[in-house]
Amino acid sequence: MSELHQLLRCPQCGTAPEPGLALCKGCGRSIATVGGCLDLLDDQGREAADRFATQYTALRRQEGWIGLESKEDPEGGEPRLWRGRVESVSRAATTLSSQWTGGGRPIVVDIGSGGGWAARYFPDADVIAIDLLDTKNSPGNLNVRADMRSLPLRDSTVDVAFYAASLHYAPVSDSIRQAARVLRAGGLLIAVDSPMYSDHRRQAQAEARSAAYYAQAGFPELAAHYHPIEVAALREALREGGFDVLRLEAGRTGRRWWQRLGRRERSFLIARLNHGYS
Ligand SMILES: C[S@@+](CC[C@H](N)C(=O)[O-])C[C@H]1O[C@@H](n2cnc3c(N)ncnc32)[C@H](O)[C@@H]1O
Repeated sequence: MSELHQLLRCPQCGTAPEPGLALCKGCGRSIATVGGCLDLLDDQGREAADRFATQYTALRRQEGWIGLESKEDPEGGEPRLWRGRVESVSRAATTLSSQWTGGGRPIVVDIGSGGGWAARYFPDADVIAIDLLDTKNSPGNLNVRADMRSLPLRDSTVDVAFYAASLHYAPVSDSIRQAARVLRAGGLLIAVDSPMYSDHRRQAQAEARSAAYYAQAGFPELAAHYHPIEVAALREALREGGFDVLRLEAGRTGRRWWQRLGRRERSFLIARLNHGYS
């Protein structure tokens, strides 16, 4: 069994999936998607994920993020949309190289991975890409359909929890708690390109703007998945999770020009888990 598979667990019986097997060895449950990746959602989660995926993919295609390839990947969508994200992921990869002190190949979980393309920027790591979407495995990484609010990973098993524009797809306290559970002591949480706001009022305004956007685009249900982050709540969740913040840049989300002055446009967070999960 591959080392990465051993870290995963079936949502029904907890058995690690066997590479190449479409059924769980422990309980016989189907654990493969139509697209061929591992599916470690429970039954209720599968239904909800199918519904989300249909709407989310249609919207992203409409916006130009998804091209003919049918998956979220800079190689398929419109370059002008992807440029900033690719830069952020490259920056995250560079930061990981400088902060990783563990030796060997770190195990990175790319959480909310979209098409799983970020793995190409972590050639010196083993990557498990997790998303609600059904994405085909690409060479070199393992794609798993699962929910970031309930990661199908064993406790204290991975070195890096990475989020590219995805930390805000669950309430921040839920995502951080899950990251703290699956990371080893000393592991890193790196999150880029999530909308972050300095206070609750601005966060609530952003939430309302997003809900209006999803409604006019024809997908009002998607608003329930979108949770712009309030910086104080993020700091509190990190503290409770046992993280030390190494760098937190909220990005230029202020609505007035002087609030944006001199700030990087995109958010960037790197934090280290200072003890094992308990
Ligand atoms: C803005 S996209 C970013 C995708 C990718 N990281 C990238 O940079 O291209 C957010 C991703 O989060 C995924 N997502 C949303 N809610 C999720 C959840 N609860 N669990 C896992 N993935 C989720 C979406 O399907 C989508 O692929």
